Amino acid sequence: MTNSPLIRDISDDDVEQVSALWRAAGVARPWNDPETDIAFARRDPHSTVLVAVLDGTIVATVMVGEDGHRGWVYYVAADPEHQGKGLGRTIMAAAERWLAERGVWKLNLLVRGDNTKVKRFYEHLGYTDTQSTCFQKVLTPL
Ligand SMILES: CC(C)(COP(=O)(O)OP(=O)(O)OC[C@H]1O[C@@H](n2cnc3c(N)ncnc32)[C@H](O)[C@@H]1OP(=O)(O)O)[C@@H](O)C(=O)NCCC(=O)NCCS
Repeated sequence: MTNSPLIRDISDDDVEQVSALWRAAGVARPWNDPETDIAFARRDPHSTVLVAVLDGTIVATVMVGEDGHRGWVYYVAADPEHQGKGLGRTIMAAAERWLAERGVWKLNLLVRGDNTKVKRFYEHLGYTDTQSTCFQKVLTPL
């Protein structure tokens, strides 16, 4: 990578740019509203969204948090114009550091079953497939 990006927490002014990056990188889903997801991740100190900024532009993101047991990441994304230049590694290292600073010793993440390319990326970074199945139930917030 030519220049090292600045890593920082997302700010209110970044939400639109981050939402656009998620759509461009293909991590946005029609049933998940980015603004709602970002606001929820920022509601307390257990989670946040980290952004990588290069020449004033957000080029990579990760949503990182801990649930009292494990660390988790979501919305791992590098701008398609800048992929393959180390941003994915950089943003994952930032998430790992964020968790390690909070005493978390294991990081879990979900990869869609058919996303072989991304599985290879995580394996390359030292992650192993736990061969677990993710179960989910939609709840009504009270
Ligand atoms: C996945 C993603 C974040 C990776 O970002 P990136 O900036 O392209 O990756 P990097 O350039 O930082 O790659 C880091 C390392 O992984 C390696 N790598 C990346 N993709 C790989 C692959 N498919 N197979 C093997 N190695 C791979 C790179 O060679 C590099 O190795 P090195 O650091 O030892 O030289 C990016 O491709 C992306 O945004 N994809 C679309 C969104 C997505 O699917 N996100 C994951 C949701 S679970």
